[in-house]
Amino acid sequence: MEVLPKRTLRDVTPFFPEQPNEQIRRELGLKEIVRLCSNESPLGPSPKALAAYRAAADSLCRYPDGGSPGLCAGLARHHKLSPENILVGSGSDELIRMVCEAFLDPEDEVIVSQHGFVRFRQQAAMTGTRIIEIPMSDWTHDLETMGRAANPRTKILFVANPNNPTGTYSTASELRDFLQAVPATALVVMDEAFHDFAVKNDDYPVTVPGLVRKHPNLLVLRTFSQAYGLAGLRVGYAAGDPEVLGWLDRIRLPFNVNLPAQRACLAALADRAFLARSVAATIKNRERLAANLREMGFGVLDSATNFLFVHSRIRGRALSRALFKRGIVIHPLDEYGLADHVRISVGTPEQNASLLKALKAIAPEGA
Ligand SMILES: Cc1ncc(COP(=O)(O)O)c(C=O)c1O
Repeated sequence: MEVLPKRTLRDVTPFFPEQPNEQIRRELGLKEIVRLCSNESPLGPSPKALAAYRAAADSLCRYPDGGSPGLCAGLARHHKLSPENILVGSGSDELIRMVCEAFLDPEDEVIVSQHGFVRFRQQAAMTGTRIIEIPMSDWTHDLETMGRAANPRTKILFVANPNNPTGTYSTASELRDFLQAVPATALVVMDEAFHDFAVKNDDYPVTVPGLVRKHPNLLVLRTFSQAYGLAGLRVGYAAGDPEVLGWLDRIRLPFNVNLPAQRACLAALADRAFLARSVAATIKNRERLAANLREMGFGVLDSATNFLFVHSRIRGRALSRALFKRGIVIHPLDEYGLADHVRISVGTPEQNASLLKALKAIAPEGA
């Protein structure tokens, strides 16, 4: 083909999702597949969200409300902000793309962390902007060095808090100093996809609404994909300054979030009891799984999320392949430059038991 894409796209590798369950079943002839690869909640969504989703079926001949005004209003109430402080996206993935598209020129710089969430770098790369990578400190974003690296050319600093894939978080005081250090001309994107798990830690920063009101250059991202158990609907949102969100809104596709998704997320937001139960169960299962893996000799970092960052003697890709053959899907981390690590989502107690049994078969003498 002689038609070339734009220059900045030529080095971008496509996203390779894990194989769908149906394909794995066919390939391996297995009935049961245990997916511990994408940090989805095995506990599923609130029954109230499901009811709202099903009720929306009656309106499928209609376009959804563009801009998700009902969900924006609900989120604004929930966060004690005004609806102008909220923008809803098709997953926080879409919001990361929108921020890059709306704010980055090729002559700008973006600051990311060495093993920070990979999407930041991928999306920024498509704009041709210069990407500065700051090494981690103890598997955590080094906010002090990131803040010091910011200069008048810096347009965005991306922080995943907690971070995927390390599961670590930066504390309230680290964030406070960082926000002081970053120039007002640079946007700080705090991606809090795993907020509902991390907030159980006393020193985890409270960004919404206080810090969002105080720092117009702070943009916080949240998602319904993890704790709310609604990854399949693709809904995330940004909380930030109305002017910043106004620029993102200009490039938002008119109907970016579908109608059942808007309704289901609004219902999920209101079901605080379900969310609390789901988060508590995940944390309990996570701690038990971490202890079991450590007993087997794996190196497991403390996690503030719904997944574990695991170091193994067996290379990550080989370990993932061996588990895959037994119908268990985990996530190797070569794309993060972490070939000796894997990321394992916390499953139900039964799923975690299947994982441990398979690991014992693969590495009988321990990890
Ligand atoms: C840190 C982080 N941000 C954003 C996302 C994307 O979430 P969404 O499903 O809302 O697009 C993920 C997905 O795992 C994530 O780990």
